Amino acid sequence: MIPTSPHPAAIVTGAARGIGRATMNRLLAAGWSVVAVDREPVVGIDAATEDRVLAVQCDLADPSMPSEVVAKAVGHFGGLGLLVNNAGISGAKSVAETDDGNLAQIMDVNFTAAFRLTREALRVMQPGSIIVQVASVLCIRATPGTSAYTASKAALAGLTRQVAAEYGPRGIRCNAVAPGLIETDLTAEKLKSDAGHRRIWKDGTPWPRLGRPDDVAAAIAFLASADAGFINGHILVVDGGWSAGATAA
Ligand SMILES: NC(=O)c1ccc[n+]([C@@H]2O[C@H](COP(=O)([O-])OP(=O)(O)OC[C@H]3O[C@@H](n4cnc5c(N)ncnc54)[C@H](O)[C@@H]3O)[C@@H](O)[C@H]2O)c1
Repeated sequence: MIPTSPHPAAIVTGAARGIGRATMNRLLAAGWSVVAVDREPVVGIDAATEDRVLAVQCDLADPSMPSEVVAKAVGHFGGLGLLVNNAGISGAKSVAETDDGNLAQIMDVNFTAAFRLTREALRVMQPGSIIVQVASVLCIRATPGTSAYTASKAALAGLTRQVAAEYGPRGIRCNAVAPGLIETDLTAEKLKSDAGHRRIWKDGTPWPRLGRPDDVAAAIAFLASADAGFINGHILVVDGGWSAGATAA
């Protein structure tokens, strides 16, 4: 799918692994240049595309980082056509167990950093530019023990609609993907160790397999493409049917 944005440079946060890494690879294959942001080093970039990758290692929870990242993108590639807010952390506590520290940690990365990056991007983006937020299917349906995470992703869905309404008239689209359970480092340990979690997600997904990072990357690349040119303010669920209904088991 061909980039349609006025500028072929994209920021992808959380690009070191998982969904972010798969998204970076998809976007590079579609012709984008990518500012790959992560608190971990982004290593192993294909030599054929490394001249189109600028790796920025930073903690996005630091309030000064979002503006620095956007400035680096503009400084290095001359503009910004796409922002993918993907970096995120999970948290497994009920509402009553979530203290202020847990709440701040999750909101700072999953929502506040994404809001700040969105704001800074909008200040430099030209008409035709695109923003994709990586929310979660938990922005539309809850499970026990994911309170701050669920709230942070619901906030991101609200931000998606807000940006669509405010900036759509200027030709800037904002959409979100809402993945179900995707097998990545974020989910591997819990899937292995927690039978209840496996029951809710693995057995509860009416599809023969769990999600893969590339399933989400493909949806993000679609939303960033000309084929999605009239899609604005949409939450695209990528969950194998988990939110649609229960399995027969
Ligand atoms: N895996 C799933 O099942 C699933 C489901 C729904 C939504 N999501 C969302 O998708 C996104 C990616 O998830 P994933 O499974 O690929 O996770 P992951 O843990 O495999 O990768 C997340 C990446 O974000 C980076 N990151 C985290 N905090 C950061 C910070 N403060 N500053 C900079 N980088 C930071 C990590 O270093 C890591 O490389 C997250 O927002 C997550 O909430 C994942």
